[in-house]
Amino acid sequence: MGLFDNKKKLLVGLDIGSSCVKVCELQSVGKGGNQRYRLQKLGVAPVPHDAIVDGDIMDSNAVSTAIRQVLAEQKIKAREVAVSVSGQQVMVKKVTFPLMSPAELAESVRWEAESFFPAGQGLDSYALDFAVIEERPGDGNMDVVLVACRKDKMEAYLTCVAQAGAKPLLVDVDVFALQNVYEMSAMGARDEVVALVNVGANFTNMTMLVGNKSVFWRDIAWGGHRFTDKLMEDWGVSREGAELLKQGQAAEGRTPEEVEPSLSAISDSFADELGRTIDFFRSSFKVDRLDRILLSGGSSKVAGLTDILGDRLRVSVERFNPFQLIELDERSVDPAAVREIGCSAAIAVGLALRQVGDR
Ligand SMILES: Nc1ncnc2c1ncn2[C@@H]1O[C@H](COP(=O)(O)OP(=O)(O)OP(=O)(O)O)[C@@H](O)[C@H]1O
Ligand SMILES: [Mg+2]
Repeated sequence: MGLFDNKKKLLVGLDIGSSCVKVCELQSVGKGGNQRYRLQKLGVAPVPHDAIVDGDIMDSNAVSTAIRQVLAEQKIKAREVAVSVSGQQVMVKKVTFPLMSPAELAESVRWEAESFFPAGQGLDSYALDFAVIEERPGDGNMDVVLVACRKDKMEAYLTCVAQAGAKPLLVDVDVFALQNVYEMSAMGARDEVVALVNVGANFTNMTMLVGNKSVFWRDIAWGGHRFTDKLMEDWGVSREGAELLKQGQAAEGRTPEEVEPSLSAISDSFADELGRTIDFFRSSFKVDRLDRILLSGGSSKVAGLTDILGDRLRVSVERFNPFQLIELDERSVDPAAVREIGCSAAIAVGLALRQVGDR
């Protein structure tokens, strides 16, 4: 990171989730080794149920209304935003190539990417990007991360943001934003194997770090809506009632204590799902340990989830606080609201660390 990096303008982070839109604005303060971030604005606005389904925008008016609402509520004047995409139409993969020139690499990446796409679809339907993670002259290879996203999906997100009056200057991927906020939090020890797991409403975004480097990224089609569906099914409550119960409040004649077994059953099934992905990672990357799981996302707040994951996966599980090293500007943010939103904002914070001119 250069000495004058902090002079560059940071983008406003806009995380468009299927349950809510999160917005975060940071300011970079201090110079060189003393550079820090200060939280200027943080807000959330709900997205109506079914406006985004399986990561696809079904009701673009509803989504852009939520974006407009959260930007207005927080009185955010800057219009230049970083957004992110996630879900099954986004693929992220680490590939090792022999060392080669940038032009040769661009060509090789196109060939390699073809293996990503579902049958019958190719480079014309996907936007493709890549970045060199590490060059290893020792063994003559280089590690490269490849990203592909369906173009129509990306365009739908960009259109919504533009409809809300904002200017999307950067399209990121949820798992990279997660990795980014973790790196800023400087929590990693050199030789640790860590899983960052962000549990949203429909998807769980996950990245595995080995020795502080992300090597594996995955969006699992599993999210907090499963708790809601289970409560509705088991206890005959409405969606709104189930949301309240999930958040530890009594609703429609039911108490959180009473419905706890339903939540535990779903937490158990999440442990199975996460365990399978971790096993897959371990065998494909020949990594035989996992030191800890850091949980974020709105659904990481479900009562008992951290303990159940810890017991079932036999690993230390902690909640990840993206604001750990961030100062608060108390003129514009309420510390209680920051605590309340907390780990749900991990991706928005990761996006807000991006600068104008970043790719
Ligand atoms: N206090 C809480 N306890 C339990 N669950 C909660 C709590 N607060 C929020 N949630 C749940 O978290 C989910 C929203 O989390 P998040 O904002 O991370 O998801 P999202 O980004 O909108 O979804 P996705 O990325 O999957 O489309 C919802 O399912 C919501 O019910
Ligand atoms: Mg999300």
